[in-house]
Amino acid sequence: DNIGIVGLPLNKGQPREGVNAGPSIIRGQGLINSVEALGYHVKDYGDMKFSSLEFDTIGSGVKNPRTIGKAMGEISTMVRGVVEGDGVCVALGGDHSIALGTIHGHMQVNNNACVLWIDAHADLNTPKTSPSGNFHGMPLSFILRELEGDVKQLKDAYEEWAWLKPCLSAKDIAYIGLRDVDAGEQYLMKKLGIKYFCMYEIDKYGISYCLNQALKAVNPQMDRPIHLSYDIDSLDPVYAVSTGTPVMGGLTFREGCFIAEEIAATNMLSVLDMVEVNPELTDIAGGELTANCASKIILSCLGSRIV
Ligand code: ARG
Ligand code: MN
Ligand code: MN
Ligand code: MN
Repeated sequence: DNIGIVGLPLNKGQPREGVNAGPSIIRGQGLINSVEALGYHVKDYGDMKFSSLEFDTIGSGVKNPRTIGKAMGEISTMVRGVVEGDGVCVALGGDHSIALGTIHGHMQVNNNACVLWIDAHADLNTPKTSPSGNFHGMPLSFILRELEGDVKQLKDAYEEWAWLKPCLSAKDIAYIGLRDVDAGEQYLMKKLGIKYFCMYEIDKYGISYCLNQALKAVNPQMDRPIHLSYDIDSLDPVYAVSTGTPVMGGLTFREGCFIAEEIAATNMLSVLDMVEVNPELTDIAGGELTANCASKIILSCLGSRIV
């Protein structure tokens, strides 16, 4: 089987330096060799380079709107090509903004893909509801058909966004791991009827049941390609120490791997995003631990088993 791996070292969707080093520290765990050892033929596309546009402004509630719009269009084109060429794409972030580009690119090839969003956060803010202006808290609002009107003002203001057409419906996403959801996001999740399994539901029913229900909701016949968007901050900060927006009370490392193992078992994984590893926020050991979690979860998604 073929697999394409691409680094997306974007950091302009949030304020901290260092998340752009995510691809290199995850690769540094021996990722490519380990994926090859699973029996795949790996095509490594290297790391994309993103230009910072001059005179970028805080436009309509979003920081770096032009730089991000341009990068997202480039990411979409790249991921589309990888999925067309290799069937499966692993995208190494970078901040979670990249998921707008990867989902868009993915859906140009597989227009019936469904999305599982593993995260402490819902990343569903619109430019108007965002408390921070950081785009990594907004990618889903830009891809959802139901929210086209809510993001229109920003899209119309900058030519860098002209390429974007929303292509995903709210019924085609499920969340797992939520524990820090802004008021505007809570409102939108309920209004749109998005399926979610917060840490509360995971504590109450267990990760196995929750994942099963999430898959049933978005992929009942298990005939749709899966886009797994994995924010490393879904893990508890004792594991994912080196990430920009850690939140207490997260998934254990094993719960994180279990999600990946179950996705591998579906045989329907098409694109995997692994995002928000920022090795520069702690000491070297913290960065390595976080990247090691990310690397092991990627391998589990690709079929690595304990025995
Ligand atoms: N909800 C907050 C915001 O919109 C935090 C988002 C964190 N997102 C992430 N991908 N880590 O600013
Ligand atoms: Mn998050
Ligand atoms: Mn918050
Ligand atoms: Mn996220």
